[in-house]
Amino acid sequence: MVKEHISVEPRIIWQDSANAVGQEAARIVADQLACKPDSSIVFPTGKTPLPLYEALRGMTQIDWSSSQLFQLDEYLPPESGKLPEYETFADFMHTQLWEHVDGQKHYIKDYLQAPATYEQMVSRNNGPDLVILGIGSNGHVAFNEPGSQPDSPTRVINLAPETLRSNFAGLSPDKCPHQAMTLGLKAILQAKKVLLLATGVAKHDILAKAFNPSMPPSLDCPASWLKLHPNTLILTDFQVSFQVD
Ligand code: PGA
Repeated sequence: MVKEHISVEPRIIWQDSANAVGQEAARIVADQLACKPDSSIVFPTGKTPLPLYEALRGMTQIDWSSSQLFQLDEYLPPESGKLPEYETFADFMHTQLWEHVDGQKHYIKDYLQAPATYEQMVSRNNGPDLVILGIGSNGHVAFNEPGSQPDSPTRVINLAPETLRSNFAGLSPDKCPHQAMTLGLKAILQAKKVLLLATGVAKHDILAKAFNPSMPPSLDCPASWLKLHPNTLILTDFQVSFQVD
């Protein structure tokens, strides 16, 4: 059930490019690890965080050796099996960052049969220290699709039609993953800090909808539940104008 809630306004910082968003996000990750070397950090996949990972690969002074690194989500294979054009998020994370840094790496696919165990690991010590998110054009965060409750657990979820359209345009349905395993909103909202990256003007309207100060959080836009989180920072490369409905 959706309970009574108190919304807080997240901080939004505008940068002048997607690269600058990535560099600022990398600086925040570096600060996090400098302040708390054994931080637990949850990382996203997608186009948005590519500049973040490029910046982090260049920051060779960061000491990752005590860190605990987690994935946000992962597709389940499509019915027709693994495809050449289908890179797993584990592959992505490995190539983009994890093979370049130390730390203990946790792949969500290894917990497909034990999602609660993965969630316990992410959330031990009173929640992850830092969760980094993108936002889907339908407002999903990780693969918490519309309809996700703010206390939703880590689980396998059916992908929303809009997610399939935007992530697998042109691919026949039997070749697309239709399900994913995702960290739940509950664990995300337990994070000590959330960093939401939104770049490209195509993300403007969903960001403006999710964080419209005149609208309460709602099931149809999962990112809006971040308004319940006391320490969310949004980094964008566009100015956000909120429509007051
Ligand atoms: P994107 O995906 O970074 O590729 O736009 C974001 C998301 O779907 O969460």
